[in-house]
Amino acid sequence: MITLGIESTAHTLGIGICEDGKIISNSLDTYKPINEGIIPRKAADHHSEVFYSILKDALAKAKIKMADVDLISFAQGPGIGSPLSVGVSGAKYLASKFDKKIIGVNHGYAHMKISENLTGLKNPLYLYVSGGNTQIIIEEKTGPHVIGETLDIGIGNLFDSFGRVIKLEYAHGSVLEQLAKNGKYVELPYTVKGMNLVFSGLLTQAGKLFKSGVSKEDLTYSLMETSFSMVCEATERALFLTRKKKLVVCGGVAQNRRLQNMLRLMCKEDGVKFGVAPDEFNRDNGAMIAYAGEVLYKKYGAKPVEQWKAITRYRIEMIQEIFK
Ligand code: FE2
Repeated sequence: MITLGIESTAHTLGIGICEDGKIISNSLDTYKPINEGIIPRKAADHHSEVFYSILKDALAKAKIKMADVDLISFAQGPGIGSPLSVGVSGAKYLASKFDKKIIGVNHGYAHMKISENLTGLKNPLYLYVSGGNTQIIIEEKTGPHVIGETLDIGIGNLFDSFGRVIKLEYAHGSVLEQLAKNGKYVELPYTVKGMNLVFSGLLTQAGKLFKSGVSKEDLTYSLMETSFSMVCEATERALFLTRKKKLVVCGGVAQNRRLQNMLRLMCKEDGVKFGVAPDEFNRDNGAMIAYAGEVLYKKYGAKPVEQWKAITRYRIEMIQEIFK
C-alpha cells in the first residue's frame, strides 16, 4: 500500500510517501518569517507556491507516479486556518482528480506514531513538545488521551516569543540553542501543577529581566533550563502514575539536544527506555502524515472526499469521533 501524506498546518509544506509502513520519500519547504511571527496569509501563499514542486520532488524521490498511490493522507488540524486550507484543498483535489482514497490525520497523532515507529518503542508514554503544544499522552484502545499539558502557551511558542523579545531576526529554536551555550543561570518562575505546566510567567519575567540588563545568553539558557526541568518533572510524574517503562519524545522541540539529554538521564535513573526520532521526522513533515494515514486507514478505513474539512482546533481526543 502506498500513501502520500501532505502537511501544511503551520510554516512547513511537506509531502512524504510511505509504502507499507516504510518511508520512501520526505520533501518539504518552510516559510521563514523574518522579524515577525507566522503571518497566516504569507504562510498560505508560500505553501501554494511550492506545492507543485514539492509534490514532484516527493514522487521523483520515491520513484513513483500519482497512479501508483493508493491513499492520500492530509494533516486535518490542529493548525493555522489559511496554510492548513492549502494542504486540505490540495489533498482533496488530488483525491478527486486521480480517484484515490483519502483520509485526514491529527497532526500531533502523526508526530506520536512516526516516532513510535522509528524508535521501535511500542505503546510508550508520549511527550509531545512543539510550537503550539506541550502534552503528555497515552494511547489506549479508545484512542489517545492527554494526561498532562500546558495550561497556556506551547513550549515552542515560549521560545519563539522570547526570540522576538530579544529581537532575533529569525526566532527559531536552533538559533536560541546556540545562544544558550554561553549563558549562566538566573532564577525564573517554575510552575508545575501535577502533570500540567504554565509557561507564560516565565516569558513575562524573562522579558522584564532583559529590559533590566540581564544578557540574552543568560536568559535563553535559563529559560531552557527552567522550562525543560518543568517538563521533566511533569513527565516523570506521568511515568510513575501510568507505570510505563518507555518514553518517546516527539514534535519540533524534541530536536533540542539539551531537552533530549535531560530526559535521557531521567529515564536512565528511573529504569525507563527513552526514544527520540531523527530530527527530520520531529520537524513538521509529510512522511509522518503518510505514515499515520496508513495507521488510521487500517483502523477506521477512508471516508468520501466531500466529508473531509480542516479542523483548526483538532484535539487529539477527537480522533475516534471524526471516524464515527
Ligand atoms: Fe508539529
